[in-house]
Amino acid sequence: MQSEKQEFIPALGANWATKYYDPLVRIFTKEYPFKRALISQANLNNNQTILDLACGTGTLSVGIKKRFPDTKIYAVDADKKVLGIARQKAKDAGIKISFHESLSHKLPFQNETFDRIFSTLFFHHLTIDKKIETLREIKRLLKPNGEFYIADYGKPNNIFQKASSNIIKLIDGLETTKDNLDGNLEKIIKEQGFTVELTKQFKTLLGTIYLYKCKIHR
Ligand SMILES: C[S@@+](CC[C@H](N)C(=O)[O-])C[C@H]1O[C@@H](n2cnc3c(N)ncnc32)[C@H](O)[C@@H]1O
Repeated sequence: MQSEKQEFIPALGANWATKYYDPLVRIFTKEYPFKRALISQANLNNNQTILDLACGTGTLSVGIKKRFPDTKIYAVDADKKVLGIARQKAKDAGIKISFHESLSHKLPFQNETFDRIFSTLFFHHLTIDKKIETLREIKRLLKPNGEFYIADYGKPNNIFQKASSNIIKLIDGLETTKDNLDGNLEKIIKEQGFTVELTKQFKTLLGTIYLYKCKIHR
């Protein structure tokens, strides 16, 4: 029997590496500062329903829930293995999060379910077609006044950042990282009907991470 082709790129580009994700990302991406910044700018309150899209090991979801314990958090990832780490992290923290295994372009939720959708270090794992399909899903799932917060690699803003972002190309592949590193992500999000505001940039050891606040354009 032929083995099924994996439809997603795992957290560190290969299944065997997933268990090293947390310590490496913490060191190489300024993970806590950029995730704290994203949470702080999202106007969160305890009545909201939130989606962490491609949650990986669940660090962002747990961070939100610690600051806003009454929010309802749904966290989705395509990878069973990384979800196992995320579930354990939430359990250790005594935190309730609803985890789901799903691909980002066909999500198992009804229209207009979420006040906020977050996505961190994820879009550079998607081909251009899947980026567009995923943005359509995000649009479908946001409530009319909902907001989408994204943090991901963008155009490196100096030669050192450009050199270090080659590591991301190596880990996650040229095809999916190209649009990000060419600086096209903002344009792609806008073309799917969002207004996009660049709120912050972080220079990291793996390139420049851009933070955006996006709303459905009306
Ligand atoms: C670099 S990790 C980022 C994880 C987490 N958001 C973070 O900030 O640490 C990218 C994640 O995207 C997930 N992923 C890749 N392609 C996916 C897809 N098409 N649908 C859902 N998840 C996907 C991977 O399994 C991985 O956990």
